Amino acid sequence: MKFEGQDWFYSKKVKEHFLKPKNVLKNKSEIKNYNGYGKVGNMKCGDIMEMWIKIEKGIIKKCKWKTWGCASAIASTSMLSIIITEKGGMKINDALKITGKEITKRLGGLPQIKIHCSVLGDEALKEAIKDYESKNNL
Ligand code: FES
Repeated sequence: MKFEGQDWFYSKKVKEHFLKPKNVLKNKSEIKNYNGYGKVGNMKCGDIMEMWIKIEKGIIKKCKWKTWGCASAIASTSMLSIIITEKGGMKINDALKITGKEITKRLGGLPQIKIHCSVLGDEALKEAIKDYESKNNL
């Protein structure tokens, strides 16, 4: 394992989203406004991610999240929360197809060793959609 050079290069976008993450849940009282919840852990590092989504007519209108994870997980989930809510929101079926690769691309890349962190938000999102669907008998 190397800890130098390009292996630990963080893009400007990653730093931006790590330092000022978007859509972080700040107050537990906000939770009541959301209708899908997901919580997952990363088997590789033990970090945890929670996500709340608001779905209206099959479209993800809002997303909030909270993590006990690393800089890459924070930046990736911040970007994911933008991807699924931008331009009026994403259809559930399209959101289910989002991959860590796509998120990483929008961030301008991640160090190879941190790629696994980019899927934490993505997995929490899938759980939140599953929760929404089971609550609504879909
Ligand atoms: Fe755990 Fe990145 S090291 S999510």
